[in-house]
Amino acid sequence: MDLLVTGASGRLGPSLVQALQRDGDRLRLMSRRGTGPGGVRGDLATGFDLGTALAGAEVVVHAAGDPRNAWEVDVAGTRRLVQAVDRDRLRHLVYVSVVGVDRIPLSYYRAKYAAEQVLLASGLPVTIVRVTQFHVHVDELLATARRGPVLPVPMGWRAQPVDAADAAAYLARVARAAPAGEVLEFGGPEEMAVADLARAWAAARESGAHVVSTPLPGRLSTAVRDGAALPAGGERGRRTYSAHLRG
Ligand SMILES: NC(=O)c1ccc[n+]([C@@H]2O[C@H](COP(=O)([O-])OP(=O)(O)OC[C@H]3O[C@@H](n4cnc5c(N)ncnc54)[C@H](OP(=O)(O)O)[C@@H]3O)[C@@H](O)[C@H]2O)c1
Repeated sequence: MDLLVTGASGRLGPSLVQALQRDGDRLRLMSRRGTGPGGVRGDLATGFDLGTALAGAEVVVHAAGDPRNAWEVDVAGTRRLVQAVDRDRLRHLVYVSVVGVDRIPLSYYRAKYAAEQVLLASGLPVTIVRVTQFHVHVDELLATARRGPVLPVPMGWRAQPVDAADAAAYLARVARAAPAGEVLEFGGPEEMAVADLARAWAAARESGAHVVSTPLPGRLSTAVRDGAALPAGGERGRRTYSAHLRG
């Protein structure tokens, strides 16, 4: 099998590569620089080298994205990817999206949703997998939110983060199965209040940080309070956020 991963150099990428690796397959990893073992060059923002990168690929796991340049990379880039794939060879294209893109009014989410629509209308054998926040990303967000001794978090927000390795194992299984032609959702094992996630993070990583729940008005906040960031039924990852913090 000839497989290509976009976004292999990101947070999810290394776990995805590990989960997809199998003897006898050819696994190529696309990035803008194309360096490292299995590396091929391809730029979604410009289309540069995309045709060469995608030539012969039977399975594509599309995990590249750029929140700072989403309409160019995630949306127009996905359109460029659709044009560049080898239609005669392609058996399955799996797109990594985010749980809540259809319900949470965030500009990056609007772009991810638009990218999903590009793929669903492409006529290609696709599956969209919406995933909740990776544990490592939750750590980053909390570290950024900290203001000296205070860690403010939006009151009432709920989340169900997932370990990148669990998400990668699920994505690899989906990628090797038949295309679903629809949207699947995947999240971690437990729903938690964001304030509890923050307390667990502070206790494990930043014992001086004091978590303060702050009311946050607006449609985005209401959506997250109402559970828009929680995955719909289906499979779940196993590793909890506490286990991640202990690890
Ligand atoms: N982070 C989360 O918690 C989370 C949760 C759910 C879903 N997701 C989705 O999962 C996917 C992976 O997320 P992540 O957090 O691992 O991403 P990330 O760490 O931000 O990495 C982004 C990846 O996209 C690649 N990329 C950026 N611009 C590109 C371009 N112009 N051409 C080609 N490649 C480009 C980067 O490669 P180079 O810079 O090396 O070229 C990098 O490998 C994304 O689609 C994201 O929306 C993320």
